[in-house]
Formats: sequence, C-alpha cells, structure tokens
Amino acid sequence: MVLIGYPCAQFHNGRSCQTRERWDVDEGKLAGRIALVTGGLRGIGLASAKRLIAEGAAVVIGDLDDAAAAEPTIAGLGPKASYIRMDDTSEADWQAAHDCVIRQHGKLHILVNNAGTDLTGPVEGIALADWRQIMAVNVDGVFLGTRIFTPLMAQNGAGVAGGASIINVSSIMGLVGMSEVSAYNASKGAVRLFTKGIAMEFAVKKMPIRANSLHPGFVETPLLHAGFERWVTKGVAESAQALIDGMNAMTPMGRLGQPEEIAAPVAFLAGPDSSFMTGAELVIDGGWTAQ
Ligand SMILES: NC(=O)c1ccc[n+]([C@@H]2O[C@H](COP(=O)([O-])OP(=O)(O)OC[C@H]3O[C@@H](n4cnc5c(N)ncnc54)[C@H](O)[C@@H]3O)[C@@H](O)[C@H]2O)c1
Repeated sequence: MVLIGYPCAQFHNGRSCQTRERWDVDEGKLAGRIALVTGGLRGIGLASAKRLIAEGAAVVIGDLDDAAAAEPTIAGLGPKASYIRMDDTSEADWQAAHDCVIRQHGKLHILVNNAGTDLTGPVEGIALADWRQIMAVNVDGVFLGTRIFTPLMAQNGAGVAGGASIINVSSIMGLVGMSEVSAYNASKGAVRLFTKGIAMEFAVKKMPIRANSLHPGFVETPLLHAGFERWVTKGVAESAQALIDGMNAMTPMGRLGQPEEIAAPVAFLAGPDSSFMTGAELVIDGGWTAQ
C-alpha cells in the first residue's frame, strides 16, 4: 500500500484520517464523486460504501473503531476507501471529518448519514440518559453532519449531474410505531422530518443539494442480530431464530432484507438517476408498511 502524503494522512487532532493509494480507473455513474458514509464499518453502511465505490465514487468512512481495528475492512474496500475515526454525536469529530475530507479530496458530493443505534423496552423503563443517547446518535449526528457539510456540498453540487445528495438513513420505524420501540420510533421519525425540512430549504434557496430519507425494513446486520440477542436474554423469545421466523412471517415477502438491498437505493439516491427527488421517503421493506 502506498500512502499519499496529504497532511491528513497523519494523525489529525488525535484522530486518524488515512489516505490510501491513488486509483487509476475512474468510471461509473458516480465517477469523480466523493462520499462520506457514517457507520460504514458494518451492516448497511459497509454495503453502501462498497456499492458507491463500485459505481465510481471515492468513499471516506467514519465510524467508532480506532484506525488499526478498521484497517482490514478499509483495505478490503480497495484504494478508493479511506477512514476517519469519528463519533457522530461529537461536533468536534464532525469538524475533524470535514477538515479531513477537505485535505484528502477538497470536496464532497454525497453524505450518507447512516450511523445509528437502537433501544427497545417499555416506555416507563427508559432512562433519560438512554433516551438522550439514542437521540444523540440517531438525530444529533444527522443534524451535525448536515450542518457542517452543507456549505461544501453547496459549492460542489453544481459540478455534478443531479447535484450533491444527502441520504439520511431512517427506518420503517420512522413511519409507523411498534410496541416497546418508542425511543427508536421518535429518533427515526425526527430524521424523516428533518430531511424534509432541509430538502425544502435547499430547493427554495436553489442550492444544488438534494436530501432524501431511506426507510429500511428488517435487514440482516450486526445491529439486528444484537437486538435479537437482547430480546432472547430478556425472555421475549426462545431464540434468535424464533424472532427471525416471526419477522419473516410478518413481512409480506417472507424474509429479512440484506444490506446490499439497501445499498442499491443509497447509490440511486446519491447519483443522477434520482435528480428530481428531494424530500422523499424511499421505503425498502419487503412490503411491511404496505399492509
Ligand atoms: N438493520 C436493520 O434492520 C435496520 C432497519 C432500519 C434502519 N436501520 C438503520 O440503518 C443504519 C445502519 O444500521 P445497521 O443495521 O447497519 O447497524 P450496524 O450496527 O450493523 O452498523 C452500524 C454502524 O454504525 C456505527 N456507529 C454506531 N454509533 C456510532 C456513532 N455514534 N458514531 C459513528 N458510528 C457509529 C457502528 O460502529 C457500526 O459500524 C442505522 O441508522 C439503523 O438505525 C437498520
């Protein structure tokens, strides 16, 4: 691996912002575009990073792991991937990510606000600290990323077909309620309407940025499996498989989604094929919310 000597290839304010070797081939619908994907080391974020790279973008992944732990995953994504350790609840980390993107690429066209966490349980048992934590990760993170990158994306959006694109990963739980999911419902509902608010603002002000929310159903990722394990521990179900069977039975298409099935719509929203879409909700749920 050849590291390019950009300043942010060094440790930056105690955070790593690694740059990988240069790429030679630049083709695909997203060729020449730069993307930042939060929560990109696993699940939907990782699949989205892979897809954006496959369609020609260069991708900066932001996630919680330190650089050494992230290295194998980033190396597996090839020369168009780089990494910055960041907590999406931290304004300082977002500012560092912004500085890193500027030093590494000088521009940003695609922001995928994907980092997220969940919280389940009866409302009367939710501690205020846990409520604030899920709001911090799922809502503050989306707000901070949008606020900090809007000026740069407004500059860069005019240079690409369809403009710059902010993709906020909400959930079907941002559209409909579910028992013992109220805090997650609230956080994902906030993402849905925040997205519509910024979409209106950008459109009315003729800023070349579109913003859309994505609403996955139940997708097989580490987050979903960790949630299943917690429910089993609490005695809600006998096994994770019993929960999966239950989810399948409640989903018209009869199965869980795969991260790649969410990554494809992410790439669609990122690029020119969705050029007349802003403030929209893209639902990918095997028919769950159509019932
Ligand atoms: N899996 C599902 O069924 C499902 C359904 C609907 C929506 N979603 C949403 O999709 C997004 C991705 O979920 P997933 O299932 O891939 O989860 P995941 O847990 O598999 O991956 C999430 C990634 O986000 C990172 N992350 C968590 N908190 C962070 C923080 N504060 N700052 C930076 N990174 C952080 C994690 O380290 C992890 O790599 C989340 O917003 C989630 O709410 C998931």
